Amino acid sequence: IRTILTRPDGGAALSGQTLKVGGWVKKGREQGKGTFAFIELNDGSCQANLQLIIYADVAPLGQVVATGTCLHVEGVLQMPPEDKQGKQAIELKVVKILEIGSVDPSKYPLPKTRLTLEFLRDYVHLRPRTNTIAAIARIRNALAYATHTFFQKHGFLYVHTPIITTSDCEGAGEMFQVTTLINEAEKIEKELIKNPPPSQEDVDLAKTDVKGKGEIVAKLKSDKAGKPEIMAAAFLTVSGQLQVETFACALSSVYTFGPTFRAENSHTSRHLAEFWMVEPEIAFADIEDDMKCAEAYVRFLCQWLLDNCLDDMEFMVEKFDKNAIKRLQMVSSTNFVRLSYTEAVTILEEAVSKGHKFENKVEWGIDLASEHEKYLTEVKFESPVIVYNYPKGIKSFYMKLNPDKKTVAAMDVLVPKVGELIGGSQREENYEVLKERILEMGLPLEPYEWYLDLRRYGTVKHSGFGLGFERMILFATGIDNIRDVIPFPRYPGRADL
Ligand code: 4AD
Ligand code: MG
Repeated sequence: IRTILTRPDGGAALSGQTLKVGGWVKKGREQGKGTFAFIELNDGSCQANLQLIIYADVAPLGQVVATGTCLHVEGVLQMPPEDKQGKQAIELKVVKILEIGSVDPSKYPLPKTRLTLEFLRDYVHLRPRTNTIAAIARIRNALAYATHTFFQKHGFLYVHTPIITTSDCEGAGEMFQVTTLINEAEKIEKELIKNPPPSQEDVDLAKTDVKGKGEIVAKLKSDKAGKPEIMAAAFLTVSGQLQVETFACALSSVYTFGPTFRAENSHTSRHLAEFWMVEPEIAFADIEDDMKCAEAYVRFLCQWLLDNCLDDMEFMVEKFDKNAIKRLQMVSSTNFVRLSYTEAVTILEEAVSKGHKFENKVEWGIDLASEHEKYLTEVKFESPVIVYNYPKGIKSFYMKLNPDKKTVAAMDVLVPKVGELIGGSQREENYEVLKERILEMGLPLEPYEWYLDLRRYGTVKHSGFGLGFERMILFATGIDNIRDVIPFPRYPGRADL
């Protein structure tokens, strides 16, 4: 339908052609006392619907006009009568029905137009049929394509990092556990004898970490053949960063783009339990280069949507956020504001002294709350803001310690409407300092030995960041809740389908 309706002539030059079209009925109405029907058909390729005219001798009209019906038809393209032209692009006069997937209108859950996004979350399997979810799906697809285009164009290599891992990248203990059965149980038995868990019996008590196999959560007595078996815990990754660093420290400029998981119990409109992250990692790059790359990438994404998704963006402006296109134009053409964390806190303190009320306390050392991010990006600067050099106490162990020994070379990109879009940093490349930082954060050394190896052998200055892909879609579309911009949202209490 897109190839017909998005032509500059509205498809007029195709008049007289016979073709096959398939799609789902948006709206249908019988006309001329039941002698024919007009149907608005959509196949998801674009916002626009193709108008079909079906006569009663071709199909049972009562059946084909019902919203949600699937129709696969053969027909002839024709321009509507002159008095109707202008209102209506080319239409298809149906000559043959190839397939009907009918709908009982009294039972179809989405008969009305204007259903709320919240209502639609209970129909995740049917909601792609709505204009809104379809538009978001096309914008999401465009942003994924733009992401690969941007990094490939700049010579980055795409690396697939693992989903199952025993490394906790953020060291925050927010990982979903998956249990694996280890078959090299005999080897592990020996370890266990040397280093016994609190209880030798079956389940949950044993806490011994055995050579990167993960935490032992259950020791089964034996398998069918009488050999001992052991259950060990691995986890779903919270970030591909640590693994992608191994490739950056060999192939220079790389990126990973995949699903990541957080077992935080967040019930906000900005958090998901499963979300996608774009994570570039660049050897020989410092925090300045990192910020430059992040800014160029976000601006590229915004320009890409303006160039490639204007119809869907216009729909977003009309239905959800009148500023959505203006925001993309603003971001694609302005330099991001840059502030050190200390400067950001000073600005917030000034706001407080002028009477601005924040719910959370403002003082050096706090993690910026979303109200603070909002103030910086929407009130003070009305622009994306990059905040860098955060206190080491509120950031991860792998970030490079600054000469002041109090801050780390971290940077967050904050944007209007969404807040934190990107988190990144220069990585600590000094072996001794990194080791010290791991211990200082109360983390065990053993699981990070391989990561320390990158600093033991041929270490290099390097930096990277992670962009929350769904947050980027929120920012672009103006949709309010992150649960509506991922095809199958997962959050506390929701993992069906
Ligand atoms: O700031 P975060 O936790 O950074 C990292 O994971 C780094 N290892 C990335 C790196 O340097 N390679 O997460 C990065 C971004 C955040 O800025 C946010 O946009 C998004 O991921 N994010 C979430 N998005 C949806 N739901 C959640 N629960 C999210 N947690 C983080
Ligand atoms: Mg962060």
